[in-house]
Amino acid sequence: MKHILVISYSQSGQLTQILTNLTSTINEEIEIVSVQPKTNFSFPWISHDFFNAMPETVLEKEIELNEIAFKRDTYDLIIFGYQPWFLSPSLPATALLKNEAFKKIMKNSPIVTVIGARNMWLNSQESVKQLIKDADGVLVGNIPFIDRNPNLLSAVSILHWMLTGKKEKKYGIFPLPGISEKDILEASLFGNIIQKSLDENRFEDLQKEVLLTNRVNINTNILFIEGRAKKLFKIWANQITKKGSTARKRKTWVNFFKYYLIIALFMVAPIVLVIYNILIRPFNLNKINKNKAYFYGIELNKK
Ligand SMILES: Cc1cc2nc3c(=O)[nH]c(=O)nc-3n(C[C@H](O)[C@H](O)[C@H](O)COP(=O)(O)O)c2cc1C
Repeated sequence: MKHILVISYSQSGQLTQILTNLTSTINEEIEIVSVQPKTNFSFPWISHDFFNAMPETVLEKEIELNEIAFKRDTYDLIIFGYQPWFLSPSLPATALLKNEAFKKIMKNSPIVTVIGARNMWLNSQESVKQLIKDADGVLVGNIPFIDRNPNLLSAVSILHWMLTGKKEKKYGIFPLPGISEKDILEASLFGNIIQKSLDENRFEDLQKEVLLTNRVNINTNILFIEGRAKKLFKIWANQITKKGSTARKRKTWVNFFKYYLIIALFMVAPIVLVIYNILIRPFNLNKINKNKAYFYGIELNKK
């Protein structure tokens, strides 16, 4: 029997559900560790707290976690589940990747990342890749799960879910928030792929097989948005930490960011995307495809 560590943090339980289904088809010794911050993030979120989490998340600050106890010093595979917050790994995910005990376990171990996102995980995965590299871990696969509804609809519905705690159709007309029940249920399919790699004692084809399922799709418009938005978030994050020297000032700056984000997402981005799709995208197909191949992780296991 091989030893598998499944480690994650989940607020609503969505990511836990994905990981439970994904690992249901792995027939090995599985240790499940659920990470908890010392100071919990309330769920549902209070609106201010939600946006107030942006600067530290984007700047990848380390929060304190409850002590984590591992049964072993090494594992044959680590399945690390995380969710992006503001195009960065969530604060608990960053803290875990920077945790000394976990870093020791990651060293020289194969790691598969499982993402439970809305639809923007490209930048956060870049950070996660770097943190895994810093710990001398070996990323062998990435399985992202997203909400497949159109970007603006999913933004409204996820905010409804996060701010009310209710995974329901806002006004009865918006799509159900989060990753679809079907995708969550069928996560087990990826467990089969991981099992095959474990049986063969090699992870070189794992990502290729993940992609062959055709379940991982990178949307060109999201690729375009993510290519720009993280830089802007970093500027805002630095500005808010610098200017928000008192609680009142911080609140004011976080409010500015909130309105900026709403305007950028719902008014500016749609116009910019129309221009991009007409004037830029058709002439950059090669570059876009190369970029997508990179994020799909096609090169992940190439020596
Ligand atoms: C503060 C916050 C920021 C988020 N930012 C993003 C984001 O940038 N990209 C994205 O795809 N999803 C984003 N999400 C959605 C989460 O990645 C995740 O799908 C959702 O919170 C459910 O995860 P859970 O399993 O922890 O409940 C955000 C969620 C929260 C709470």
